Amino acid sequence: MSGGGPAVRRLSDWDRERLLSLADEFGSPLYVTDLRRVRENCLRLREAFPEAHVSYAVKAHAGRAVLETVREAGVDAECASAGEVERALDAGFPGERVRYTAVNPPDADLDHVVSRWESNPEMTVTVGAADTIDRLRERGFDGRLCLRANPGVGAGHHEKVRTGAHAKFGIPIDRVPDLAADVREEFDLVGVHAHAGSGISGDDLSAHRELVRRMGDLAREVGDLEFVDVGGGFGVPYREDEPPLDLNSVADATREALGEVDARLAIEPGRYVVADAGVLLSEVNTVKDASETTVVGIDAGMTTLLRPAMYDAYHAISNLSRPDADPVSTIVAGPVCETSDVFADGRDLPAPERGDCLALGNAGAYGYEMASTYNSRPRPPEVVLDADGPRLARRRETLDDVTALERTAPEHIPN
Ligand code: LLP
Repeated sequence: MSGGGPAVRRLSDWDRERLLSLADEFGSPLYVTDLRRVRENCLRLREAFPEAHVSYAVKAHAGRAVLETVREAGVDAECASAGEVERALDAGFPGERVRYTAVNPPDADLDHVVSRWESNPEMTVTVGAADTIDRLRERGFDGRLCLRANPGVGAGHHEKVRTGAHAKFGIPIDRVPDLAADVREEFDLVGVHAHAGSGISGDDLSAHRELVRRMGDLAREVGDLEFVDVGGGFGVPYREDEPPLDLNSVADATREALGEVDARLAIEPGRYVVADAGVLLSEVNTVKDASETTVVGIDAGMTTLLRPAMYDAYHAISNLSRPDADPVSTIVAGPVCETSDVFADGRDLPAPERGDCLALGNAGAYGYEMASTYNSRPRPPEVVLDADGPRLARRRETLDDVTALERTAPEHIPN
């Protein structure tokens, strides 16, 4: 393995003293992202899929430092919105390395993407509904087009992130060949695409295999394509004892299921690239003895890291300040008055005390990206680590930032 590092970086692999000093210097809560790990994850993907076109699903973490690292590591950008397209171009991805996957796209997104395509004609647009093609045509787009199929197979860590069989996503796979024939005259039809869902574990591999098999059949039927994109979704182990995906077996299973196709395999993982490159640091505000448990209130909440509230997601938690204290059973909760604002219930932690610094693992994917200002709580800063040491990649939001839109709101701006 050349530079791809270990298959997983666990929370316990982070340098405790280093994290504590970052929390001291930059305050709490704080996202920390290690760009060296982002690079390793990109390399491991490229090594496991040497023949494939690998893109990064920007939605997992759209920060500029991450995008630049991904670009330098030879992985392209898959974007879910006009904003993500803009950020990818800004981060230096040339148009030919940018793909926009339109899901029920608002007019403003299409306007923007088509105008960016005019100066970046190698950009690819993926559509998941036939009428999106009409809307692109109306805007003068006749460039590289990819059709997103609904393959009828979904997978993923939670019902809310299984897309492959949900009617919202993609064109029913049996209608794709006719549509492909229709659009060929007018557009440069370069690919077909499908995405099963997010957080696919080793146990879900049969669903992945089935999706790839269907996409292989589709690519053979449509013919004359540059690529067949089988989506992202590669899971990472959130639990300390969960084994990491064996990327090489995923790659072998993918190749075998795809079969012989005269088109290049493409994948577009997001989580896999950034999840274990990030941790969230948070200070203990409150320690409360409740019957049978200790409630540990921290200064991060569902507004900082939404995943536990939204998907009952598990994130490893450690007490960086006193790793050797006797463990107690805890509820780790945020400062929002909602029962969903709980990171863990029944979690054994070295008895936390007020002022301790806790770390939440695997916070690099869909962490900062899904943060909000609910409860008028400014979003935390992000520090990135690289060979030159730590640097502030995004400053802490202030209450002034949160209210700025009210102060500057003109009478009415149409969307
Ligand atoms: N491609 C498409 C078309 C997607 O919709 C997604 C994710 C990906 C690729 C990347 O999936 P990944 O490799 O990151 O699993 N907020 C949720 C995940 C939502 C994923 C949405 N689509 C979470 O925190 O688990």
